[in-house]
Amino acid sequence: MNERIGILTSGGDCPGLNAVIRAVVKAGQYSGYQTLGFRGGFEGMLSPAEPVDFDFGRMDGMLIRGGTILGAANTGHFAAKTGLGDVRQVDPILLANAADTYRQLGLKALVVVGGDGSLTIAQQLSLHGVNIVGVPKTIDNDLDATDQTFGFDTAVDTATDALDRLHTTAESHGRVIVLEVMGRHSGWIALHAGIAGGGDVILIPEIPFSWDSICEKVMDREKSGKKFTLVVVAEGAMLRGGEQSTHAVPTASMDREVRLGGIGEVVAEEIARRTGKDTRTVVLGHLQRGGAPTTAGRLLCTRYGEAAVRLIRAGQFGQMVSLRGTEIVNVPIARAIGRVRRVDPDGELVLSAKALGIGFGDRLT
Ligand code: F6P
Repeated sequence: MNERIGILTSGGDCPGLNAVIRAVVKAGQYSGYQTLGFRGGFEGMLSPAEPVDFDFGRMDGMLIRGGTILGAANTGHFAAKTGLGDVRQVDPILLANAADTYRQLGLKALVVVGGDGSLTIAQQLSLHGVNIVGVPKTIDNDLDATDQTFGFDTAVDTATDALDRLHTTAESHGRVIVLEVMGRHSGWIALHAGIAGGGDVILIPEIPFSWDSICEKVMDREKSGKKFTLVVVAEGAMLRGGEQSTHAVPTASMDREVRLGGIGEVVAEEIARRTGKDTRTVVLGHLQRGGAPTTAGRLLCTRYGEAAVRLIRAGQFGQMVSLRGTEIVNVPIARAIGRVRRVDPDGELVLSAKALGIGFGDRLT
């Protein structure tokens, strides 16, 4: 009989989750492993667990299918991150329950596809005897132990496409259009899409902004004959000396992370008030999380999934697959969850954007 491995997708969804599942199932089958999938993240491991028995046949079309056929959850019993740097201990009784399921099913290892929150839970679960292999997922690209998480490339592509479209309408009407993108406490999506999509101002959490600096940029463009301005703002961006903008719903509780958002509208209103320009806001939201992964995304998902199976074959547990340069390597999960990867305000990408005249709202006037 084949040995068995388990897989679950946890945290917010993103493009490419199914492509990872497919790679694990296929590479697993060629390595003599039967893959069982748990539904709804870690909750699916609680007894009575009813995992999905995967085989090749069920993987048709999965390379390009958005979302996750296993479902995912970023709230509930298994929520280990409630804010930047905050870590919560998941109830040990629940962890023991999930570990019992793992043992009863005779699993050799569990592949956890998730971001820092999910990998933090996985790390806690490993203390109950579960052999974990992690795959780094999140559109935010904020895991320090990898050069890229899967989902990021597709989210950037979606945001860039939105900027291309907004460019033409902003230009036609001579407007300021503010595009709010996701990214939590990191500005990677805003930075990459802002540069690729020809943004004029990019606001990210790592570089607090001032109104004067943003409006100076808008007016400088106006004087040079450019009557329109595209502003890309990361949901976690904030005014110098200010705070991040959050949704005023009772979800900033112990069982989930605080919900960021709303800064786009704030920025648009203030620009309109100070410059007299006609402004509009677009919140890209979950469009960044949906749909098929890009070509680069599919490739990364496939490589990550296959590498995860290779780690299981080698008996290397407590590890996460990771991209370093062009190579897939592995790093201890303990290290992967230690630090959030944030944009370096003095890094090459920011400096090169500034050299092109892109404003970050930090210029002293
Ligand atoms: O971490 C991924 C992410 O999409 C963030 O960019 C965003 O802040 C958050 O999840 C939104 O989560 P939810 O699915 O709860 O709206």
